Amino acid sequence: MLRVGVLVSGGGTNLQAVLNAIDNGEIQNAEVKVVISNNKSAYALERARNRGIDALCISPKEFESRTQFHDELLSRIDEYHLDLIVLAGFLVTIPEAMIQKYRNRIINIHPSLIPSFCGTGYFGLKVHEAALARGVKITGATVHYVDEGTDTGPILLQKAVEVKEGDSPEELQKRVMEEAEWVILPQAIALIAKEQEEKA
Ligand code: GRF
Repeated sequence: MLRVGVLVSGGGTNLQAVLNAIDNGEIQNAEVKVVISNNKSAYALERARNRGIDALCISPKEFESRTQFHDELLSRIDEYHLDLIVLAGFLVTIPEAMIQKYRNRIINIHPSLIPSFCGTGYFGLKVHEAALARGVKITGATVHYVDEGTDTGPILLQKAVEVKEGDSPEELQKRVMEEAEWVILPQAIALIAKEQEEKA
């Protein structure tokens, strides 16, 4: 059984897609053990509570220093003995110690076809504003492993989405989420869970 932790900052629609995929059998042999947010009002935490999943808020604001926040975040995560950590719109930089300790066991969903429109400053709506400004006809989403860089780790899955004439950033974001993010994030977890099962 793949023990999964999900780190969130916002509405949690990607988290919900994962939970739905576990419920409908698209993801087998995986269980979300904890959802952690830096933002106490993140609706993603509500989604976790509704499902009886541990929902923790660990905010940098509660700590004297970033180091103390990082230490607390890592020690709480360690309590769950996770096989996979999923960054689903987590807007806080994760500690290097966490990347080292969970190397190749942290994945991130990014709302573009990396290497386009990614890296520092490219998050949320800004990604889609940049895609529209460049005039690309195709965009999409990427699931990649997390390394020390920003959106630079090995790519696991990608899915393309058409940019339509007159799209607003919001309309494009919605289409990328519905047609790509909510599809490939569950698929990625299903693949990793299957791989673990086969190795067992
Ligand atoms: C998604 O657009 C994702 O691509 C980005 O952050 C957003 C999270 O949305 N990394 P949600 O909280 O899953 O609804």
